[in-house]
Amino acid sequence: MKLILGVSGSIGAYKAMDILRLFQKNGHEVSVVMTRAATRIIAPLAFATFAPGQVFSEMFAEGQDPLLHINLARDNDLLLVAPATANIIGKMANGIADDLLSTVFCAFYRRVVVAPAMNTHMLENPAVVENISRLRGRGVEVMESALGQLANLETGRGRLPDAATIYDHCLKLSRV
Ligand SMILES: Cc1cc2nc3c(=O)[nH]c(=O)nc-3n(C[C@H](O)[C@H](O)[C@H](O)COP(=O)(O)O)c2cc1C
Repeated sequence: MKLILGVSGSIGAYKAMDILRLFQKNGHEVSVVMTRAATRIIAPLAFATFAPGQVFSEMFAEGQDPLLHINLARDNDLLLVAPATANIIGKMANGIADDLLSTVFCAFYRRVVVAPAMNTHMLENPAVVENISRLRGRGVEVMESALGQLANLETGRGRLPDAATIYDHCLKLSRV
């Protein structure tokens, strides 16, 4: 399968490397779309080492396909956003397309999987809860976050599920 791995600015962004490698090892072709916040947390070069020429983060970049957002959407079977911040979830739920990842989502018309990762209090924020349920109501597959120790050392729900869980989930869905 061909998929887009959307990486947003969660501290769990480094775990997206494992997700990328797992899909690749199983023969899938992955393009990576990072938000600007994600590029502050993990360098695009880390992803580009394993997916050369397939890592994007800018909407308006010199020399880049001007219709990248449309072409990525057309050419891929699945959009997986992992980790998904409260912010990208909010944008996806509200039709906001102000960067490459949110614009690719707007243009995407096949299966979308979202793996939220954030502090428990953010996950329980009524706006975030509403945005997640709005996405689910539109057929977007929003995974449950995992329980465990969070970045601030509190224990709670909000961790990114591990790469294998996300991989299995995506594969099961792609067979349906
Ligand atoms: C070190 C650090 C870690 C962060 N981790 C998270 C996180 O796990 N989940 C989240 O929703 N936001 C997190 N944020 C906040 C987001 O980066 C911020 O809301 C940003 O605007 C998200 O932009 P994006 O959705 O375009 O990536 C973190 C910020 C910093 C500085």
